[in-house]
Amino acid sequence: MVPNPPSAPSDAQLDQVKEAVRALLHQPDYDDGSAGPILVRLAWHSAGTYCATTNTGGSNGAGMRYEQEGGDPANAGLQHARAFLEPIKKRFPWITYADLWTLAATVAIKEMGGPEVTWSGGRTDFTDESKIPPRGRLPDAAQGADHLRFIFYRMGFNDQEIVALSGAHNLGRCHSENSGFEGKWVNQPTRFSNQYFKLLLVNDWKKKKLDNGLEQFVYVDEEVELEDNEEPEELMMLPTDISLLSDPKFKIWVERYAEDKDLFFDHFSRVFAKLLELGIRRDASGKVVNDENTEGGYRS
Ligand code: HEM
Repeated sequence: MVPNPPSAPSDAQLDQVKEAVRALLHQPDYDDGSAGPILVRLAWHSAGTYCATTNTGGSNGAGMRYEQEGGDPANAGLQHARAFLEPIKKRFPWITYADLWTLAATVAIKEMGGPEVTWSGGRTDFTDESKIPPRGRLPDAAQGADHLRFIFYRMGFNDQEIVALSGAHNLGRCHSENSGFEGKWVNQPTRFSNQYFKLLLVNDWKKKKLDNGLEQFVYVDEEVELEDNEEPEELMMLPTDISLLSDPKFKIWVERYAEDKDLFFDHFSRVFAKLLELGIRRDASGKVVNDENTEGGYRS
């Protein structure tokens, strides 16, 4: 138990934090010009350690501040996302890291043209490493459909939810220095859309072996006219992304989301809200209830 949990912030206080997140999204010198995609990944990796059987992991605790979780190779690169948010934490010390990381992702999704995601506060920050879950709970992009089910069923998601969540790969890119994979999934990686599903279906994805031995899938649009010396732009998919096409139960949802953007936005907003709440128990009023794996919530 945290001895003196903070009192719940007012809507006006939360609005100030959201405004501060909006103000930092535009980062002309970073990646594709936005901090948005990596903020989404930060929230996802903070929550994606959840195990429903043991009720451990999840977005409570902000364990990535500690080497045990922050130094997990699966979290490589996310130090940039945490650094983007640090000035906001300094300016609004009453918000916990765990709340800030999750809230920032919802702001980023909305600002990038995505759906509104319901968010509730009350997460606390672990004060030591004892409750940090073991490494190895996040998905390995080099694997396939069985692995996705193993990882996401552990969190309590079903096939439809796995595909909807994967639609976040409309955003951002892979960096060889982080994951070993390289490139972006769509042409406009700072705009939330259902383009990822459309491209999965229409393009002819070819396996490409990278210098580091990893395999990803690539597509080059040969119709695009290039200027002299211009390299053709290559889009990419991870082996796990391609497994959504080869598995019939996943593919049904790829097809539906490719043809119906509103359906995808609706399902994504629900499933992302569910992701952020994994492992967090609330009473009827929405206040976080403690159990042996959580510490805290706001003082009522
Ligand atoms: C980036 C794997 C699911 C959001 C990445 C990267 C990998 C990856 C390898 C590249 C990281 C880098 O090199 O910087 C996977 C696998 C998943 C998965 C195997 C299993 C389905 C998700 C989910 C979300 C998500 C559920 C959010 C709902 C993102 C975002 C990026 C990203 C936004 C771009 C980050 C950036 O631009 O820096 N993912 N991911 N991913 N992932 Fe996933």
